[in-house]
Amino acid sequence: MASRLGIVLTATVLFGGVIGGAVAPALALDPSAGDPAAGEKVFRKCQACHAVGADAKSKTGPALTGVIGRPAGKVEGFSYSPALTKEAEAGLVWTPDKIGEFLTNPKGFLPGTKMSFAGLRKDQERADLIAYLATFP
Ligand code: HEC
Repeated sequence: MASRLGIVLTATVLFGGVIGGAVAPALALDPSAGDPAAGEKVFRKCQACHAVGADAKSKTGPALTGVIGRPAGKVEGFSYSPALTKEAEAGLVWTPDKIGEFLTNPKGFLPGTKMSFAGLRKDQERADLIAYLATFP
């Protein structure tokens, strides 16, 4: 009896591990999955166009303070592309998942966007960056 229970428990743990592995790509975009310090370095790729922080101003791109979880296209005074404006009106919200999809391939996710950035193809870079952005609510 005791050994049977052991087998059941082992099977449950293994099965749980498999499930955990299967959902890992989605979880990689969870702010808690990334390292904000590493994300600060990744953000150097964005700094030519974006600022983040308490007194951040828009540059070529809109200020990114509080962007995680915010509806798209909401920085006052910034002139968004028609493409982004349309998605914003359709209800796009910058959840970690959506921002992750956008950053993987900006022009693929949002055809017509005026954000000229090739994309971040590495899952870990995106997770770290999102964790960094999440430190500026
Ligand atoms: C060459 C300039 C440039 C670079 C580099 C760049 N962006 Fe952008 N970004 C823009 C512009 C311009 C927009 C506005 C896009 C539009 O209106 O279609 C934008 C929009 C965004 C938005 C939507 C904001 C909102 O208010 O809806 C996010 C999020 C964003 N960028 C994140 C990033 C991140 C993170 C990086 C670095 C990995 C990055 N961008 C790199 C220029 C840039």
